[in-house]
Amino acid sequence: MVVGMASGKIILMGEHAVVYGQPAIAMPFSAVGIRATVTQEGQALSVSCAFYQGLVHEMPKIWESLKHAIRFSLYRIGAPTDPAIHIDIDSTIPAERGMGSSAAVAVAIARALFAFYQKELTDQELWDIVQSSEKIAHGNPSGVDAATTSGKQPVFFIKDKTIQPLEINVDAYLVVGDSGKTGHTLEAVKDVALLCQRNQEAKRWIEELGKLTRSAKELLSSGQTNILGQIMNQDHSLLQKLTVSDDILDQMVIVAREHGALGAKLTGGGRGGCMIALAENQRQAQDIAQALEDAGARQTWIQYLGE
Ligand code: PMV
Repeated sequence: MVVGMASGKIILMGEHAVVYGQPAIAMPFSAVGIRATVTQEGQALSVSCAFYQGLVHEMPKIWESLKHAIRFSLYRIGAPTDPAIHIDIDSTIPAERGMGSSAAVAVAIARALFAFYQKELTDQELWDIVQSSEKIAHGNPSGVDAATTSGKQPVFFIKDKTIQPLEINVDAYLVVGDSGKTGHTLEAVKDVALLCQRNQEAKRWIEELGKLTRSAKELLSSGQTNILGQIMNQDHSLLQKLTVSDDILDQMVIVAREHGALGAKLTGGGRGGCMIALAENQRQAQDIAQALEDAGARQTWIQYLGE
């Protein structure tokens, strides 16, 4: 029996703009994660997870990206295409909520299968496997999910460039609120692309998002949480203009701000999924989390941002 693990991720700044070459700041979110366990079992390649149990070759089309992560890993390993093994997937990452569950499942599967066959998994190999399965799930992934669900530290990420580890010297807390509604990253990314084709102003919003992310990088390093909060608010307004927020996320952002958040915004693909709020201290973070739950959040988490 061999295990592969991956964590969820949170995008602090830069979602959507990152698809257009602007930077994003994202971090592994270890409060949620995925464990893939491989065992020598049965007559053919099979899988079990919350939504499917059975043979991999009979998996419904909607789980194509998961199937691809398994098949592509086996191909890169040089293993038989239909080995007599079973992969059990156990996840605490809510699916389709902007927490990187599709990338994380590919990371966990690749790690477990390579370990099972005692093959070294290079960073490049892991990247190829995760990105190719993310293409099936999201169409045009920037790679920020692949970078963070497989990593251990926050990153300053620019598509097709190097992934820089990010220094965070902030004595503050992040509250993550799950709206309970599934997000629609694929459609949101497509709609932003259409908007940019039709509306010159949308391109400027993308650039402004990039500038905000660069400012956030400096503020995270210098620990200026008040201004960081304001930057997060501005970021949310621009994401609203790009049409990737929705009424529930907007309401949650308002609730967080009314309960003392220094700033709040959606996180991830949007149109459902999760939002984040910046809190000055633990007590305030707990108040915000409670207020979000009272307002209907499915689940909340609190993460300390300092080292
Ligand atoms: O898949 P999600 O919802 O965690 O968000 C992905 C972030 C986007 O910027 C919207 C898309 C991308 O590929 O970077």
